[in-house]
Amino acid sequence: MDMIQRPRRNRQDAVMRSMVEENRLSVKDLMYPLFVMEGSNKETPIASMPGISRFTLDLLLKEMDACIQLGIKSFALFPQIPESKKDSTASESIKRGNIYLESIYQIHQRFPEIVMLTDVAMDPYSSDGHDGVVKNGQIINDETLPILADMAVAQAQAGSKLIGPSDMMDGRVGVIRDALDDAEFTNTGIMAYTAKYASAFYGPFRDALESAPKFGDKKTYQMNPANKREALREAMLDMEEGADFLMVKPALAYLDIISLLKDNSDLPIAAYNVSGEYAMVKAAAQNGWIDGEKAMIESLLSMKRAGAQVILTYFAKEFAQLKID
Ligand code: PBG
Repeated sequence: MDMIQRPRRNRQDAVMRSMVEENRLSVKDLMYPLFVMEGSNKETPIASMPGISRFTLDLLLKEMDACIQLGIKSFALFPQIPESKKDSTASESIKRGNIYLESIYQIHQRFPEIVMLTDVAMDPYSSDGHDGVVKNGQIINDETLPILADMAVAQAQAGSKLIGPSDMMDGRVGVIRDALDDAEFTNTGIMAYTAKYASAFYGPFRDALESAPKFGDKKTYQMNPANKREALREAMLDMEEGADFLMVKPALAYLDIISLLKDNSDLPIAAYNVSGEYAMVKAAAQNGWIDGEKAMIESLLSMKRAGAQVILTYFAKEFAQLKID
């Protein structure tokens, strides 16, 4: 055959393939989500997320120490709150010394070098299981905003450097930015959950926190999976309101959205490889239907290739154990 162009020449051996490799994963790309609960000396495995547990703070500190030894330097933290402490205004979320604020405080005292995304949303503390105040079956946007602002300031006071509003209320990034600045936390950043879709892939997370909505769904605030241009609108608003990172969530089923925001913003883009995406790979691997390790690497790589600079993933520890760097 008379062919000048032969792309296979660049794939002929491992060194050649490595030379032309366009994206490389590093543990530095990954942020590890963790779950904390009240009590001591307890670890509760999450059935729908093999390899992931909820820890009491004492054991969580040990777990984080092990992760840091493996090179993980960034984390996200979510609390499980007992049903008896939930109410319609999420009042537990700003109580001094609650399990979440105490964890933020102790973790930053113990590991000052790390960055941990702290979650601003009502759902773990809400008796309705929603991310906003509920009245007559409606989610009331503007009554939710001051609650979110108070939560953000309480977390900054406890030591958080990075606030993650995961609620999808309109205007929350601006309100949180103002509240942080008024309280002189000008250095506390905001990683906005910019394009957060009403997804079926959050199921295992809601198991982990027992935070599923008590009625209805989240479609009046989370985005419709059919929409792409609307993600740009959310991104423009979050940029104007002072976000420091834009996040797309979920990740694997939304690679086009990651790429879109990357091309239309100069902020770093984060992607949340959510619980259901993790569970799918784990379940198939446990059945021997796919190679779990290869599928993990391939899916994380796809998020990076699409434009994610930070990947929140339950695979972080498993990836770190491979010692790829
Ligand atoms: C809610 C929240 C959710 C997740 C993170 N924050 C679920 C939801 O919107 O119901 C999901 C994360 C995951 O599935 O891994 N504030």
